[in-house]
Amino acid sequence: MERTHIEADKTIAKRANLQSYENTKELFTWDHALQELSQAPSGKWNAAYECIDRHVAEGYGDKKALLFTDGDHDETFTFAEVKHITDGYAHVLKESGVKVGDRVFIFLPKSPACYFTILAAIKAGAIAGPLFEAFMEDAVRERMQDCEAQYLITDENLVKRVPFDDVPSLLKTWDIEEFDREAQQYEDADSPIVWLDEQDGMLIHYTSGSTGKPKGVLHAQKVLPHHLITGKYVLDVHDDDVYWCTSHPGWVTGSVYGVFAPWLNRATVVIHGGRFDAKEWYSLIERFGVTIWYSAPTAFRMLMSEGDLYKDFNLTSLRHLLSVGEPLNPEVIYWAKDVFNARIHDTWWMTETGGHLIVNFPSALIKPGSMGRAFPGVTVGILDENNEPLPANEVGKLAVKAPWPGLMKEIWKNKEKFDSYFTDNGWYLSGDTARIDEDGYVFFEGRDDDLIKTAGEQVGPFEVESKLIEHPAVAEAGVIGKPDELRGHIIKAFITLRHGYSDYDGLTEEIRQFVKTKLAAHAAPREIEIVEELPKTKISGKILRRLLKQQEIEKMQKEVASEWQKKNA
Ligand code: WT7
Repeated sequence: MERTHIEADKTIAKRANLQSYENTKELFTWDHALQELSQAPSGKWNAAYECIDRHVAEGYGDKKALLFTDGDHDETFTFAEVKHITDGYAHVLKESGVKVGDRVFIFLPKSPACYFTILAAIKAGAIAGPLFEAFMEDAVRERMQDCEAQYLITDENLVKRVPFDDVPSLLKTWDIEEFDREAQQYEDADSPIVWLDEQDGMLIHYTSGSTGKPKGVLHAQKVLPHHLITGKYVLDVHDDDVYWCTSHPGWVTGSVYGVFAPWLNRATVVIHGGRFDAKEWYSLIERFGVTIWYSAPTAFRMLMSEGDLYKDFNLTSLRHLLSVGEPLNPEVIYWAKDVFNARIHDTWWMTETGGHLIVNFPSALIKPGSMGRAFPGVTVGILDENNEPLPANEVGKLAVKAPWPGLMKEIWKNKEKFDSYFTDNGWYLSGDTARIDEDGYVFFEGRDDDLIKTAGEQVGPFEVESKLIEHPAVAEAGVIGKPDELRGHIIKAFITLRHGYSDYDGLTEEIRQFVKTKLAAHAAPREIEIVEELPKTKISGKILRRLLKQQEIEKMQKEVASEWQKKNA
């Protein structure tokens, strides 16, 4: 029988926070948020208070807030302990001069300290700027320079990648251990919470651009109802849930759905230090009894490729899984249903959107291959080239009626860029192409720019090209995403060599290492091909990445065909 959909499990649907999509028009209402955010009536908020302190005030101080493991050792923190630690940290920041709107960057591995310093920065009224732990010097420089970061919390390893001389705005840097020691003196101090307006900044994340440097997406405190309400209905967190999001808070999934949405809903949050490891991940689910698990298609595909390994573990605690970042293959959903007896709920959103916009609920039918339906109250449309809505099932530009609660406040000091997201008739353009079926389910088609998604992480070709041409042997570079079964896409670079250079053994590997050590490991091209010339547009001389990609796909198709012929000859 051909499989086209998976119904909601009746017992799970009954327990779900949202029981019927059809009867729910609006979930992002102000009244709704007022009921959920304890300080909302005062008109002054603080996201960190709502995530942690509120639960302590309401009698949940002893509840486990955090379970951490790095494979070797575990740590557990209650809400009261997290409040205590983040209070002390916020005092250190305030005493050091941190003021509302200042940028406090956090450059730490995935660890409790990373989560605590983000919350502390927000408690002190600052904008938290979490950086992905794999960023190398140039990536750190670009981001801290752009928004003139004033404070930095890092550790003894990562500090080596901070280009101090190039960030003159920086007033103070702490090593996390020293920071922690400084906090001890605030043992019995009062609450350090700084109450904020909804338009005060809270979080800055950099997202890659296809033609320029990364853009600083600034979210304000007003994003909170979006985190809270999608956490409640899409993550579907209940009081006995153990929730694990695998993303590092340097990416928006790791902050919004790793820190804020689960803690606003009082979940017990799991952190795993380190990167993907199939055995360690399965064993973590078993040991901690994870019930809700948020990860990315690449990770699920990697687990799938481990075959029967799952049989060594008891994974029955899982109630549902969530996915984001790239297209989720139907096979993966059916595989998960078989091995975990749980569905994967795809979600669609972007750094700029601040939270989920297209989702699947535990109580509703899913159609594998589709990302789900618009969150109730959000209007999603497919537009033609004149930005006019298209009928059902036609492919066009995926757009959202603006605004909604989580929409970014601004692109850091770049109004022109910010404005470029919006059409004259009130739509936000995502840069994706999609179609919507007659039931409202949205199917992803592709991106209409050159941005690359590799292993769930977004990479701007321009940033990689710029790095490549810093290598003495490289004259020009064109970078594309080449389709790959496991990673969605891999980064492939086409380069021309400078005069006086010719290909030699190990040259491409040397160039690869160059990008890896200067930019970031995930941004280093897996394949580098040396060519005589790069295709360009006639007028502006822009490198035609689209053509490079099309040629690469045709080449791959030919290889597959000739393999097939050999096998069947
Ligand atoms: C781009 C945004 C904020 C979540 C993490 C990524 C792609 C996102 C899906 C999905 C297919 C997806 C889109 C989008 N994307 N979710 N469910 N299926 N593609 O955030 O790095 O800002 O990237 O990720 O292309 O525009 P991001």
